[in-house]
Amino acid sequence: MIKIAPSILSADYVNLERDIKKAAGADYLHVDVMDGVFVPNITVGIPMVQAIRRCSGLFLDVHLMVHKPVRYVEDFARAGANLLSVHLEADHPSAIAQALKLMGECGVKKAVALRPITKAEAVLPYIGELDMVLVMTVEPGFGGQAFMEGQLDTIRQVRSIIEKYNPACELEVDGGINTRTAPLAVGAGANVLVAGSAVYGAEDIPGAIQALRG
Ligand code: DX5
Ligand code: ZN
Repeated sequence: MIKIAPSILSADYVNLERDIKKAAGADYLHVDVMDGVFVPNITVGIPMVQAIRRCSGLFLDVHLMVHKPVRYVEDFARAGANLLSVHLEADHPSAIAQALKLMGECGVKKAVALRPITKAEAVLPYIGELDMVLVMTVEPGFGGQAFMEGQLDTIRQVRSIIEKYNPACELEVDGGINTRTAPLAVGAGANVLVAGSAVYGAEDIPGAIQALRG
């Protein structure tokens, strides 16, 4: 089954509770945390995840676009995240392994994220313990960018690694997902679709979520 994860990056932050409730028919709620270092943009942090947790029962999929994310794993877990994804480019492999270990100790699901430049094989050292791999289909940092079709190869390669080593692991794609690109990503092996502008740019948010399911 395809899961939809609306990204609140494109929601109306003044009316965030209202916009989160409009996404109640989704599977996950995707929260983009950006630090202005790992990516050029700055978004939300730990108190916002706490606030979202108080107003929604949805599974919180927290995408850490943060330099040296191991420093914040416990804080985001305590704030109410259900899953954390850390970028493989954000620290040395030993620190990424440490971040995943901490996630396990904190009882949150574990994911690694790949920028478009990162090869699928980079997940191999971690694949056995992951709950999800996140393949970026835009350069992380901003909503509303165009889907990078060249990433379909990476999605296919990650899917074959997952099938071989950890079939229960989910494969999420993030960036430029809409009703045209969603079937391409699913065809390449994705089963979780993040969508910011395609959901929150729509008049009918529940309808937009349903349309992405295909
Ligand atoms: C971008 C973020 C995405 C973003 C996607 O760096 O990771 O989650 O919200 O937005 P759209 O769906 O508009 O490309
Ligand atoms: Zn994201």
